[in-house]
Amino acid sequence: AGCSHPAAHFSSSSSRYPAPREGIEWQKFGFSLATRDTRMVVANCENGKMWEPLRVEPYGPLALEPSATILNYGQGIFEGIKAYRTTKDRIVLFRPQKNGLRFADGARRMLMPPLPTQLFLEAVSTAVRENADWVPPCGQGALYLRPLLFGSGADLGVKPSSHYTMVIYVSPVGQYFGPGTSGARMQLYKSQQRAAPSGQGNVKAVGNYAQCFSAQRMAKADGFSDVIYLDVAGEYIDEAAASNFFCVDANRVIHTPQLGSILPGVTRDTIIQLDSDIQLKQQQRALKDSDIQLNVRKVSAKVALAAKEAFLTGTGAGIAPVEHIASDEESVTFGESPGPVTQMLQKMLSDIQLERVADNQRWLHDP
Ligand code: COI
Repeated sequence: AGCSHPAAHFSSSSSRYPAPREGIEWQKFGFSLATRDTRMVVANCENGKMWEPLRVEPYGPLALEPSATILNYGQGIFEGIKAYRTTKDRIVLFRPQKNGLRFADGARRMLMPPLPTQLFLEAVSTAVRENADWVPPCGQGALYLRPLLFGSGADLGVKPSSHYTMVIYVSPVGQYFGPGTSGARMQLYKSQQRAAPSGQGNVKAVGNYAQCFSAQRMAKADGFSDVIYLDVAGEYIDEAAASNFFCVDANRVIHTPQLGSILPGVTRDTIIQLDSDIQLKQQQRALKDSDIQLNVRKVSAKVALAAKEAFLTGTGAGIAPVEHIASDEESVTFGESPGPVTQMLQKMLSDIQLERVADNQRWLHDP
Protein backbone atom coordinates (compact mmCIF):
# COMPACT_ATOMS: atom_id res chain seq x y z
CA ALA A 1 0.00 0.00 0.00
CA GLY A 2 0.99 3.66 -0.01
CA CYS A 3 2.40 5.27 -3.07
CA SER A 4 5.18 4.13 -5.30
CA HIS A 5 7.64 6.65 -6.65
CA PRO A 6 9.23 5.59 -9.89
CA ALA A 7 12.65 7.20 -9.82
CA ALA A 8 12.51 7.65 -13.59
CA HIS A 9 10.11 10.55 -13.06
CA PHE A 10 12.82 12.59 -11.45
CA SER A 11 15.56 13.91 -13.64
CA SER A 12 17.81 15.60 -11.11
CA SER A 13 20.84 13.54 -10.22
CA SER A 14 21.21 14.65 -6.60
CA SER A 15 17.53 14.59 -5.69
CA ARG A 16 14.52 12.79 -7.01
CA TYR A 17 12.61 16.05 -6.60
CA PRO A 18 13.22 18.33 -9.58
CA ALA A 19 14.25 21.88 -8.69
CA PRO A 20 11.81 24.78 -9.07
CA ARG A 21 11.76 26.37 -12.52
CA GLU A 22 14.32 29.07 -13.09
CA GLY A 23 13.34 32.68 -13.65
CA ILE A 24 9.92 32.57 -12.00
CA GLU A 25 8.96 35.38 -9.62
CA TRP A 26 7.31 33.10 -7.09
CA GLN A 27 6.62 35.92 -4.62
CA LYS A 28 4.24 37.49 -7.12
CA PHE A 29 1.71 34.66 -7.17
CA GLY A 30 -1.53 35.32 -5.31
CA PHE A 31 -4.41 32.90 -5.55
CA SER A 32 -4.84 33.06 -9.31
CA LEU A 33 -4.47 30.63 -12.17
CA ALA A 34 -1.03 29.93 -13.66
CA THR A 35 -1.20 26.81 -15.81
CA ARG A 36 1.56 27.45 -18.34
CA ASP A 37 3.32 24.18 -19.24
CA THR A 38 1.46 22.26 -16.55
CA ARG A 39 -0.08 18.84 -16.95
CA MET A 40 -3.39 17.56 -15.71
CA VAL A 41 -4.49 14.12 -14.61
CA VAL A 42 -7.74 12.80 -16.08
CA ALA A 43 -9.86 9.69 -15.52
CA ASN A 44 -13.25 8.63 -16.83
CA CYS A 45 -15.94 6.44 -15.43
CA GLU A 46 -18.32 5.14 -18.07
CA ASN A 47 -21.78 4.08 -16.96
CA GLY A 48 -20.99 5.12 -13.41
CA LYS A 49 -19.17 1.86 -12.62
CA MET A 50 -15.40 1.34 -12.97
CA TRP A 51 -12.83 4.13 -13.04
CA GLU A 52 -10.58 3.82 -16.09
CA PRO A 53 -6.78 4.19 -15.72
CA LEU A 54 -5.41 7.69 -15.06
CA ARG A 55 -4.17 9.68 -18.05
CA VAL A 56 -1.73 12.59 -18.02
CA GLU A 57 -2.32 15.39 -20.55
CA PRO A 58 -1.16 18.96 -21.06
CA TYR A 59 -3.46 21.42 -19.27
CA GLY A 60 -6.16 22.46 -21.73
CA PRO A 61 -9.85 22.50 -22.66
CA LEU A 62 -12.05 19.47 -22.09
CA ALA A 63 -14.57 18.35 -24.71
CA LEU A 64 -18.06 18.33 -23.14
CA GLU A 65 -21.49 18.02 -24.66
CA PRO A 66 -23.76 20.99 -23.88
CA SER A 67 -26.16 18.57 -22.23
CA ALA A 68 -23.54 17.31 -19.74
CA THR A 69 -25.08 16.95 -16.28
CA ILE A 70 -22.50 19.24 -14.68
CA LEU A 71 -23.38 22.11 -17.03
CA ASN A 72 -27.14 21.73 -16.65
CA TYR A 73 -27.69 20.53 -13.12
CA GLY A 74 -24.43 21.22 -11.30
CA GLN A 75 -23.62 17.58 -10.50
CA GLY A 76 -20.05 18.19 -9.46
CA ILE A 77 -17.64 18.62 -6.57
CA PHE A 78 -14.04 19.75 -6.16
CA GLU A 79 -11.13 19.68 -3.73
CA GLY A 80 -8.12 21.82 -2.91
CA ILE A 81 -4.78 20.34 -1.82
CA LYS A 82 -1.32 21.84 -1.54
CA ALA A 83 2.13 20.42 -2.22
CA TYR A 84 5.08 22.07 -0.48
CA ARG A 85 8.82 22.06 -1.02
CA THR A 86 10.25 21.53 2.45
CA THR A 87 13.38 22.56 4.33
CA LYS A 88 14.60 19.00 3.76
CA ASP A 89 14.38 19.63 0.01
CA ARG A 90 11.55 17.17 -0.39
CA ILE A 91 8.14 17.73 -1.94
CA VAL A 92 5.19 16.72 0.24
CA LEU A 93 1.42 16.76 0.02
CA PHE A 94 -0.39 17.86 3.17
CA ARG A 95 -3.07 15.41 4.41
CA PRO A 96 -4.31 14.26 0.98
CA GLN A 97 -6.05 11.23 2.57
CA LYS A 98 -8.38 13.64 4.35
CA ASN A 99 -9.27 15.31 1.03
CA GLY A 100 -9.74 11.89 -0.53
CA LEU A 101 -12.29 10.92 2.12
CA ARG A 102 -14.15 14.22 1.73
CA PHE A 103 -14.08 13.83 -2.08
CA ALA A 104 -15.68 10.40 -1.70
CA ASP A 105 -18.30 11.71 0.76
CA GLY A 106 -19.19 14.51 -1.64
CA ALA A 107 -19.41 12.08 -4.55
CA ARG A 108 -21.87 9.93 -2.62
CA ARG A 109 -23.96 12.98 -1.66
CA MET A 110 -24.27 13.91 -5.36
CA LEU A 111 -24.82 10.28 -6.46
CA MET A 112 -21.50 10.10 -8.30
CA PRO A 113 -19.09 7.14 -8.24
CA PRO A 114 -16.49 7.89 -5.52
CA LEU A 115 -12.82 7.47 -6.37
CA PRO A 116 -11.32 4.73 -4.19
CA THR A 117 -8.95 6.42 -1.70
CA GLN A 118 -5.93 4.63 -3.14
CA LEU A 119 -6.75 5.83 -6.67
CA PHE A 120 -7.26 9.35 -5.37
CA LEU A 121 -3.81 9.27 -3.70
CA GLU A 122 -2.24 7.90 -6.86
CA ALA A 123 -3.93 10.65 -8.90
CA VAL A 124 -2.81 13.55 -6.67
CA SER A 125 0.70 12.08 -6.40
CA THR A 126 0.89 11.80 -10.19
CA ALA A 127 -0.26 15.42 -10.53
CA VAL A 128 2.59 16.51 -8.23
CA ARG A 129 5.25 14.35 -9.89
CA GLU A 130 4.23 15.54 -13.36
CA ASN A 131 4.42 19.20 -12.27
CA ALA A 132 7.21 19.04 -9.70
CA ASP A 133 9.14 21.96 -11.23
CA TRP A 134 6.09 24.15 -10.52
CA VAL A 135 6.26 23.50 -6.77
CA PRO A 136 7.63 26.85 -5.53
CA PRO A 137 10.87 27.06 -3.52
CA CYS A 138 10.52 26.33 0.20
CA GLY A 139 8.59 29.08 1.98
CA GLN A 140 7.57 30.85 -1.23
CA GLY A 141 4.12 29.38 -1.73
CA ALA A 142 2.77 26.00 -2.78
CA LEU A 143 1.55 24.05 -5.74
CA TYR A 144 -2.24 24.04 -5.49
CA LEU A 145 -4.02 20.95 -6.80
CA ARG A 146 -7.64 21.25 -7.83
CA PRO A 147 -9.33 17.85 -8.23
CA LEU A 148 -12.76 17.96 -9.91
CA LEU A 149 -15.36 15.23 -10.25
CA PHE A 150 -18.46 15.80 -12.34
CA GLY A 151 -21.24 14.26 -14.38
CA SER A 152 -20.02 14.46 -17.98
CA GLY A 153 -22.63 12.31 -19.73
CA ALA A 154 -25.17 13.79 -22.16
CA ASP A 155 -28.69 13.81 -20.77
CA LEU A 156 -31.82 15.89 -20.45
CA GLY A 157 -33.58 14.12 -17.61
CA VAL A 158 -33.11 15.50 -14.11
CA LYS A 159 -31.14 12.53 -12.82
CA PRO A 160 -27.56 11.46 -12.16
CA SER A 161 -25.29 11.32 -15.20
CA SER A 162 -24.37 8.12 -16.96
CA HIS A 163 -20.70 9.20 -17.32
CA TYR A 164 -18.23 10.87 -14.95
CA THR A 165 -14.93 12.67 -15.35
CA MET A 166 -12.25 13.31 -12.75
CA VAL A 167 -9.63 15.95 -13.52
CA ILE A 168 -6.79 17.32 -11.42
CA TYR A 169 -5.20 20.52 -12.64
CA VAL A 170 -2.53 22.47 -10.80
CA SER A 171 -1.34 26.03 -10.31
CA PRO A 172 1.47 27.52 -8.19
CA VAL A 173 -0.06 29.89 -5.63
CA GLY A 174 0.99 32.40 -3.00
CA GLN A 175 -1.16 34.29 -0.49
CA TYR A 176 -4.93 33.93 -0.86
CA PHE A 177 -5.78 37.58 -0.22
CA GLY A 178 -2.91 38.76 -2.42
CA PRO A 179 0.77 39.37 -1.69
CA GLY A 180 1.53 41.66 1.23
CA THR A 181 -1.97 41.70 2.77
CA SER A 182 -1.85 42.16 6.54
CA GLY A 183 -5.38 40.90 7.15
CA ALA A 184 -8.79 40.38 5.61
CA ARG A 185 -11.61 42.86 6.16
CA MET A 186 -14.74 40.78 6.65
CA GLN A 187 -18.40 41.72 6.46
CA LEU A 188 -20.92 39.76 8.57
CA TYR A 189 -23.48 39.18 5.86
CA LYS A 190 -27.15 38.67 6.68
CA SER A 191 -29.07 39.15 3.42
CA GLN A 192 -28.37 35.68 2.08
CA GLN A 193 -27.30 32.37 3.59
CA ARG A 194 -24.56 30.20 2.16
CA ALA A 195 -26.10 26.90 3.22
CA ALA A 196 -29.43 25.51 4.36
CA PRO A 197 -29.39 23.56 7.67
CA SER A 198 -29.79 20.18 5.96
CA GLY A 199 -28.56 21.24 2.55
CA GLN A 200 -25.19 20.65 0.85
CA GLY A 201 -23.09 23.20 2.74
CA ASN A 202 -21.01 20.39 4.22
CA VAL A 203 -19.84 19.04 0.86
CA LYS A 204 -17.60 20.80 -1.62
CA ALA A 205 -20.31 21.06 -4.26
CA VAL A 206 -19.48 23.41 -7.14
CA GLY A 207 -22.83 25.17 -6.63
CA ASN A 208 -21.85 26.33 -3.14
CA TYR A 209 -19.39 28.82 -4.58
CA ALA A 210 -20.97 30.69 -7.53
CA GLN A 211 -23.85 31.70 -5.26
CA CYS A 212 -21.33 33.69 -3.17
CA PHE A 213 -20.17 35.89 -6.05
CA SER A 214 -22.86 38.56 -5.72
CA ALA A 215 -22.36 38.96 -1.95
CA GLN A 216 -18.59 39.11 -2.47
CA ARG A 217 -18.95 41.74 -5.17
CA MET A 218 -21.12 43.94 -2.96
CA ALA A 219 -18.78 43.48 -0.01
CA LYS A 220 -15.74 44.35 -2.15
CA ALA A 221 -17.49 47.48 -3.41
CA ASP A 222 -17.78 48.52 0.26
CA GLY A 223 -14.08 47.94 0.91
CA PHE A 224 -14.28 44.42 2.37
CA SER A 225 -12.19 41.44 1.29
CA ASP A 226 -14.99 38.89 1.63
CA VAL A 227 -18.14 38.02 3.56
CA ILE A 228 -18.84 35.82 6.59
CA TYR A 229 -22.20 34.09 6.30
CA LEU A 230 -24.62 33.72 9.21
CA ASP A 231 -27.53 31.37 9.85
CA VAL A 232 -31.12 32.23 8.92
CA ALA A 233 -31.66 34.05 12.22
CA GLY A 234 -28.56 36.17 11.56
CA GLU A 235 -27.15 35.04 14.89
CA TYR A 236 -24.57 32.30 14.40
CA ILE A 237 -21.61 32.16 12.06
CA ASP A 238 -21.55 29.63 9.21
CA GLU A 239 -18.30 30.30 7.33
CA ALA A 240 -16.77 32.74 4.87
CA ALA A 241 -17.36 32.24 1.15
CA ALA A 242 -14.41 29.86 0.83
CA SER A 243 -12.91 29.36 4.29
CA ASN A 244 -13.77 28.40 7.88
CA PHE A 245 -13.93 31.00 10.64
CA PHE A 246 -12.03 31.16 13.94
CA CYS A 247 -11.82 33.89 16.57
CA VAL A 248 -9.95 34.27 19.86
CA ASP A 249 -11.57 35.91 22.89
CA ALA A 250 -10.02 37.95 25.71
CA ASN A 251 -9.39 34.75 27.72
CA ARG A 252 -7.42 33.19 24.86
CA VAL A 253 -10.25 30.80 24.09
CA ILE A 254 -10.39 29.98 20.38
CA HIS A 255 -13.92 29.62 19.01
CA THR A 256 -14.88 27.91 15.77
CA PRO A 257 -18.29 26.78 14.49
CA GLN A 258 -19.19 23.13 14.94
CA LEU A 259 -19.81 20.89 11.93
CA GLY A 260 -23.28 20.92 10.42
CA SER A 261 -23.85 23.18 7.46
CA ILE A 262 -20.18 24.23 7.20
CA LEU A 263 -17.49 22.61 5.10
CA PRO A 264 -15.37 20.20 7.17
CA GLY A 265 -12.11 21.97 6.31
CA VAL A 266 -8.82 20.10 6.44
CA THR A 267 -7.03 23.15 7.88
CA ARG A 268 -9.88 23.58 10.41
CA ASP A 269 -9.45 19.97 11.51
CA THR A 270 -5.68 20.43 11.66
CA ILE A 271 -6.02 23.36 14.06
CA ILE A 272 -8.43 21.43 16.25
CA GLN A 273 -5.87 18.62 16.42
CA LEU A 274 -2.98 21.03 17.02
CA ASP A 275 -4.95 22.34 19.97
CA SER A 276 -4.93 18.96 21.68
CA ASP A 277 -1.17 18.96 21.11
CA ILE A 278 -0.93 22.35 22.78
CA GLN A 279 -3.08 21.20 25.72
CA LEU A 280 -0.77 18.24 26.18
CA LYS A 281 2.33 20.42 26.15
CA GLN A 282 0.66 22.81 28.59
CA GLN A 283 -0.02 19.90 30.93
CA GLN A 284 3.58 18.79 30.60
CA ARG A 285 4.51 22.46 31.17
CA ALA A 286 6.56 22.33 28.00
CA LEU A 287 4.80 25.45 26.72
CA LYS A 288 4.80 28.77 28.54
CA ASP A 289 2.50 31.72 27.82
CA SER A 290 0.17 29.70 25.66
CA ASP A 291 -2.72 28.99 27.95
CA ILE A 292 -5.11 28.69 25.08
CA GLN A 293 -8.26 26.60 24.84
CA LEU A 294 -10.44 25.68 21.91
CA ASN A 295 -14.22 25.62 21.79
CA VAL A 296 -15.97 23.94 18.88
CA ARG A 297 -19.62 24.92 19.07
CA LYS A 298 -22.05 27.48 17.68
CA VAL A 299 -20.25 30.81 17.44
CA SER A 300 -22.43 33.91 17.54
CA ALA A 301 -21.76 37.12 15.64
CA LYS A 302 -21.56 38.76 19.09
CA VAL A 303 -18.60 36.58 20.07
CA ALA A 304 -16.84 37.48 16.79
CA LEU A 305 -17.42 41.20 17.33
CA ALA A 306 -16.06 41.00 20.90
CA ALA A 307 -13.00 38.97 19.86
CA LYS A 308 -9.36 39.98 20.24
CA GLU A 309 -8.26 38.31 17.02
CA ALA A 310 -9.76 36.29 14.20
CA PHE A 311 -8.57 34.25 11.27
CA LEU A 312 -9.87 32.23 8.34
CA THR A 313 -8.70 28.77 7.42
CA GLY A 314 -8.71 26.81 4.20
CA THR A 315 -6.30 25.06 1.93
CA GLY A 316 -6.36 28.09 -0.34
CA ALA A 317 -6.37 30.60 2.53
CA GLY A 318 -4.00 28.75 4.88
CA ILE A 319 -4.39 30.54 8.23
CA ALA A 320 -5.34 33.99 6.98
CA PRO A 321 -5.52 36.75 9.59
CA VAL A 322 -8.62 38.95 9.79
CA GLU A 323 -7.99 42.58 10.69
CA HIS A 324 -11.55 43.91 10.70
CA ILE A 325 -15.08 42.51 11.12
CA ALA A 326 -18.22 44.57 10.62
CA SER A 327 -21.94 43.90 10.86
CA ASP A 328 -24.59 46.49 9.95
CA GLU A 329 -24.52 47.78 13.51
CA GLU A 330 -21.06 47.17 14.96
CA SER A 331 -17.48 46.62 13.96
CA VAL A 332 -14.14 45.62 15.42
CA THR A 333 -10.64 46.36 14.17
CA PHE A 334 -7.93 44.22 15.69
CA GLY A 335 -4.87 46.03 16.98
CA GLU A 336 -2.40 43.47 15.84
CA SER A 337 -2.84 41.47 12.64
CA PRO A 338 -1.96 38.65 12.73
CA GLY A 339 -2.63 38.45 16.46
CA PRO A 340 -0.37 36.40 18.78
CA VAL A 341 -2.48 33.21 18.80
CA THR A 342 -2.90 33.38 15.01
CA GLN A 343 0.86 33.78 14.65
CA MET A 344 1.54 30.84 16.93
CA LEU A 345 -0.81 28.60 14.95
CA GLN A 346 0.59 29.82 11.61
CA LYS A 347 4.06 28.90 12.82
CA MET A 348 3.00 25.50 14.19
CA LEU A 349 1.33 24.64 10.88
CA SER A 350 4.08 25.85 8.59
CA ASP A 351 6.75 24.17 10.77
CA ILE A 352 5.00 20.86 10.08
CA GLN A 353 4.30 21.53 6.40
CA LEU A 354 7.87 22.63 5.71
CA GLU A 355 9.42 19.86 7.85
CA ARG A 356 11.00 22.18 10.40
CA VAL A 357 9.59 19.86 13.05
CA ALA A 358 8.84 16.14 13.06
CA ASP A 359 5.67 15.02 11.37
CA ASN A 360 4.35 13.21 14.46
CA GLN A 361 0.80 13.09 13.15
CA ARG A 362 1.91 11.61 9.81
CA TRP A 363 0.22 14.39 7.89
CA LEU A 364 2.83 14.60 5.11
CA HIS A 365 2.49 12.35 2.10
CA ASP A 366 5.41 11.65 -0.19
CA PRO A 367 4.16 11.77 -3.78
C1 COI B 1 -9.59 25.70 -0.81
O1 COI B 1 -9.37 26.37 0.19
O2 COI B 1 -8.76 24.93 -1.27
C2 COI B 1 -10.85 25.77 -1.50
O3 COI B 1 -11.13 24.90 -2.25
C3 COI B 1 -11.74 26.92 -1.24
C4 COI B 1 -11.73 27.99 -2.27
C5 COI B 1 -10.43 28.47 -2.73
C6 COI B 1 -12.76 27.86 -3.33
